[in-house]
Amino acid sequence: MTYSDRVAPLQACSSGALTGKVRVPGDKSISHRALILGALAVGRTEISGLLEGEDVLNTAKAMRSLGATVERTGDFAWAVKGVGVAGFAQPRGPLDFGNSGTGCRLVMGAVAGCPISAVFDGDASLRSRPMRRVLDPLELMGAKVGGSEQGGRLPLTLNGARDPVPIIYRTPVASAQIKSAVLLAGLAAPGVTTVIEQEASRDHTELMLRHFGAEIVSTKEGVHGRRIALTGQAELQGAHVVVPADPSSAAFPIVAALIVEGSDILLSDVMTNPLRTGLFTTLREMGASIEQSEARGDAGEPMAQLRVRASKLRGVEVPPERAPSMIDEYLVLAVAASFAEGATVMRGLKELRVKESDRLAATADMLRVNGVKVEISGDDLIVEGKGHVPGGGLVATHMDHRIAMSALVMGLASDRPVKVDDTAFIATSFPDFIPMMRSLGAEFS
Ligand code: S3P
Repeated sequence: MTYSDRVAPLQACSSGALTGKVRVPGDKSISHRALILGALAVGRTEISGLLEGEDVLNTAKAMRSLGATVERTGDFAWAVKGVGVAGFAQPRGPLDFGNSGTGCRLVMGAVAGCPISAVFDGDASLRSRPMRRVLDPLELMGAKVGGSEQGGRLPLTLNGARDPVPIIYRTPVASAQIKSAVLLAGLAAPGVTTVIEQEASRDHTELMLRHFGAEIVSTKEGVHGRRIALTGQAELQGAHVVVPADPSSAAFPIVAALIVEGSDILLSDVMTNPLRTGLFTTLREMGASIEQSEARGDAGEPMAQLRVRASKLRGVEVPPERAPSMIDEYLVLAVAASFAEGATVMRGLKELRVKESDRLAATADMLRVNGVKVEISGDDLIVEGKGHVPGGGLVATHMDHRIAMSALVMGLASDRPVKVDDTAFIATSFPDFIPMMRSLGAEFS
């Protein structure tokens, strides 16, 4: 049974101090990439700490359909035997990515560089999300979108290029998914494929491509941007990948510990790549006690242990250029902002409208039904924190895992319980969220 087969409402209630030490699951972005690069490499890739959430499992299935051997060898341990760059086989049926934009868009890039045709599909949420942003550069590289699917929504057929062309591409929005799709297609092209981003997005693809032996150079471009140049017709060698704990999942217990009085928790192995830690910077500016220790790194990805203690928070202004480094964290930041004293102004959130749901609207609704004053002004979100949240609301999750987790975190410290209509989608990114939060002392009923 998958998440879409069942509806599971739940409510979170005012909880006693959260305490204990946990390791949240492996990073979702790195887990997708480890499977995809493993499938495009020659030889065996061993992955430890893989996120075994629905999104990543769908990518594993897609890699199998495209000819790679993918096996689970132990708890969160996986092995992939790859087919080599441009070596994907024609899949027999459609590739179903469920809820995952990342899995779908990255695999589109990898398929675009192979002379095969594949049907891409997903659930109702993914079917509503824009794919043109990835298809546009892939068409420039020689891939073709089949039939009548020019609108760029799933389901669609992608015909990969027999002779992919390297391009120089400026991404229209700061998106690691667009950048990664172009780079993965560029692996099969002769010469150098270049992506220029005005604002740097997460660089896991670049770091991991280097780890697998590709020649890739990333240099600064302007104030906040990057220029990434990949030498194509690369041969990737199977590698060992250790997946650190996901900072986007850690965000939920972190905010919970900050707002539940008396809390003091430890989170181990949290990835601290600076292109992912905008939330930590923002929370610290709000007065949060988040201490970092035991820093170490693997395959270019730094990680650390975090100690988080309940803190009095104050409202801050979050600049738009920070958005790429915390794009998935605004929902839970809005929860923290609701418990802060004063207004938190989050600027430049246009991209939130095209995530698993329209997260700008959904965040505002989540706060409003729980008695928090909130306003959307253009692409900005303004939350009026009053130091406490009345709660008592029923939150609609819109097939979005992060809405469900954010609302449940809110209920742990609000005056009255907060209910979510469906927790099933939490399985896409954080299957153990509820038992793990309970182990820290969270009360759900
Ligand atoms: C991701 C990139 C982000 C993020 C998503 C994961 C990735 O999307 O929202 O959850 O792994 O590349 P965009 O790159 O489209 O902003």
